[in-house]
Amino acid sequence: MEKKFKRTTVTSALPYANGPVHIGHLAGVYVPADIYVRYLRLKKEDVLFIGGSDEHGVPITILAKKEGVSPQDVVDRYHNLIKKSFEEFGISFDVYSRTTSPTHHKLASDFFRTLYDKGEFIERTSEQYYDEEAKTFLADRYITGECPHCHAEGAYGDQCEKCGTSLSPTELINPKSAISGSKPVMRETKHWYLPLDKHEGWLRKWILEEHKEWRPNVYGQCKSWLEMGLQPRAVSRDLDWGIPVPVEEAEGKVLYVWFDAPIGYISNTKELCDAHPEKGNWEMWWKDPETRLIHFIGKDNIVFHCIVFPAMLKAEGSYILPDNVPSNEFLNLEGNKISTSRNWAVWLHEYLTDFPGKQDVLRYVLTANAPETKDNDFTWKDFQARNNNELVAVYGNFVNRALVLTQKYFDGKVPASGELMDYDKETLKEFADVKGEVEKLLDVFKFRDAQKEAMNLARIGNKYLADTEPWKLAKTDMGRVATILNISLQLVANLAIAFEPFLPFSSKKLRHMLNMSSFDWNQLGRTDLLPEGHPLNKAELLFEKIEDDTIQAQVDKLLATKKANEAAQYKANPIKPVIALEEFEKLDIRVGTVLECENVPKMKKLLKFKIADGLENRTIVSGIAQHYKPEELVGKQVLFIANLAPRQFKNGLVSEGMILSAENFDGTLAVTSLLKEVKPGSEVK
Ligand code: 2FM
Ligand code: ZN
Repeated sequence: MEKKFKRTTVTSALPYANGPVHIGHLAGVYVPADIYVRYLRLKKEDVLFIGGSDEHGVPITILAKKEGVSPQDVVDRYHNLIKKSFEEFGISFDVYSRTTSPTHHKLASDFFRTLYDKGEFIERTSEQYYDEEAKTFLADRYITGECPHCHAEGAYGDQCEKCGTSLSPTELINPKSAISGSKPVMRETKHWYLPLDKHEGWLRKWILEEHKEWRPNVYGQCKSWLEMGLQPRAVSRDLDWGIPVPVEEAEGKVLYVWFDAPIGYISNTKELCDAHPEKGNWEMWWKDPETRLIHFIGKDNIVFHCIVFPAMLKAEGSYILPDNVPSNEFLNLEGNKISTSRNWAVWLHEYLTDFPGKQDVLRYVLTANAPETKDNDFTWKDFQARNNNELVAVYGNFVNRALVLTQKYFDGKVPASGELMDYDKETLKEFADVKGEVEKLLDVFKFRDAQKEAMNLARIGNKYLADTEPWKLAKTDMGRVATILNISLQLVANLAIAFEPFLPFSSKKLRHMLNMSSFDWNQLGRTDLLPEGHPLNKAELLFEKIEDDTIQAQVDKLLATKKANEAAQYKANPIKPVIALEEFEKLDIRVGTVLECENVPKMKKLLKFKIADGLENRTIVSGIAQHYKPEELVGKQVLFIANLAPRQFKNGLVSEGMILSAENFDGTLAVTSLLKEVKPGSEVK
C-alpha cells in the first residue's frame, strides 16, 4: 500500500565549486528538482528544497595551485557565481549553502565520530605514492606519467585523458609528482573504510525488492553494483583541504569529499532551520519516518546516493533513507559530451547575457529534451524551433489572441458565458483531464511528458479559437463571442497554473496580465477561475521569436571553441636552426599555373603535373594523390621550387621541381596557393 508522508525533503546534488554551471547541470538536476518542488508547493504540501556547493575535493586544490590562489579563493568565487546563476534561473532553493560552512564542518565531523565510536569503520593500511620533496601523499590526480595503453605523456593517476582509460597510479609508466616533479615513492598510510560489504544484505532487499519503482537507469545501475559485490570504501584521504578526520592519530588526513558532501544536505537543512524556526526542527526533515526524502542527481552520482550515503545513514542509525533518487542521464551539446575543461558548454551566466529575460525558454527546451531515460542532445536549432514553433506559435499565440480579443470586444473585462454548444463542452472536457494527467506524470518524475501535457492545454485552446473564429462572429453574434472568449480565458488561467512549475517567469507574467492573485494547483481544470466582469491587465507578448542570426551567433561561438580545442591539441615542431638571408635567396620559389594533372599508374601517392612557369613549362611529380583529386587542381596557381635538382622516380618519370604543401598535424597535406592571381613564373621573395 502507498505510504502516506507528511512532508518532503528534496535535495539536489551539490555542484563542485570549481567552475560555473552549464545547461547540463540545469537539465540533469536543477530544473527537474525545481519543477517538482514548485509542484508540491502549489499543492500546499510541506517541502524543503536543499541545495549548496560542494567545496572540498582534489580538483579544487589543483585549480587553486594552477592559479596561484588558495582553495578558499576558488570556492568563494564559484560558489557566488553558481548561486547567482541558480537564482537567475528561478531554481527556488529554500537554502543554498556550502560545505565550507562551520555548521557543516561540525556536523560532518560529528557524523564521522559517531560512526567511529560505534565501530562502524574498519581501519586499513595501504601503500600509496608519496612525494618526498613536498612531504605529502599524492592524490591520484597529482601523479602524472606515461599511459600504459596509448603511451601518451601526461596521463593522470586516475585516467588517461588521451585514450580515456581509467587508471590506477601504479599503472603509470615513469610516474611523476605534479607538485614537485620528483619521482614519488611508495609509503604506508592508514585510512578509515566504510565496510559496504557488511551492508550488502539489507541494501539488496531495500533497493531490489522494495524500490522496484525507481527509474530503470537507477535501479539497473544499483543492481549491477550489488551483483558485482560491494567492497569497503575509504572515507578519508591524505590531503590538506577538507574536514580534518576527528581522530587523534589522523594528522594530515581529511574526510573524503564523497563522505562529507551528502552530509552537506543535512547541514544545509540545519542551517536553514536554525535561522528560521518556523520551518521546524532540522531533525524532523531527516529523521521522522513520516518525512519523504528525494535526491535529484546526475547518473554519475547514483552509487553514492543509492548505496554509499544510505549505508552511512543506516550506520548512524537515526536517519531516514531516500524514498526515491530520480537520476537523469547526460545531456550532450551539439553531438559532443559537455566538458568544462574543453569549454564545450553553454554556461548559464553567458546564456543570460546573450538571451536576457529568456530563462523560461531554456527551462522549457531542457525539459522538453530532458535526458530522463537516455543521454540526449541539445542543439541550437532545436532550441530555436521549440521556441518559435511551440512557445511562440502555440502557447504565446493562444494567450495573446484570447487577451487581445477580450480587450477589443469587451474592454478588457471577462465576458459572461452564454449557453454552451457541443464543441464548447468537448473542449472543456478535454482540459478538465489535464490536472489528473499532469499530476500522474509529475508524481512519478516524468517531467518531460508532464510538460507536454501542459502544452497540450495550449494546443487545445489554439485549436478552439482557430475552429470557432470569434473575430468573424463579432459582426453577427456577440453572445457567442462572449462565450468563446470566456472559455478561452478560463483556459489561459489554467495554463498559468499548469505551467507554474515549469515556466515560473512566464506564469508570473501571465498571472499579472490576467490580474490573478490567488492560485493553487487544485484550481487546475476549473472553468470559473476568472469571474464575469473581472478586469484584465494589458496584454503583452509572453514569448518572442528567435531569429536565425541569433542562433547562428551561438553556433559560431561553439565552432570557435572547437577550433581552439583542436589547435590546443597539437604542438608545432620546434623551429629549425637560423639561416642567413643569402641562404634563403639561393632558393628559387616561383608561381606556376597547373595546366594538367593526372594520377600516375601503379604509384598510388603520386600526381603528375604540367606546370606553366612563364618559360617552357615543366613536369613536376608530387606525393599528394591521397589528398587531392587531379581535377581539383587544374587551373590553380601553386608555389614550387624551380631550382631543385631534378629527381627521377623508379618508373623513369622525372620531376623538375617541387610543389610546396603544408603538412597539417594529422598528416594531411594542403597545397600552397596565392591570395591574388599573378603571372606564371612570378618569383616568391
Ligand atoms: O558530482 C558532483 O558534482 C558532486 N559534487 C555531487 C555531490 S552530491 C552530494 F553528495 F553532495
Ligand atoms: Zn592513454
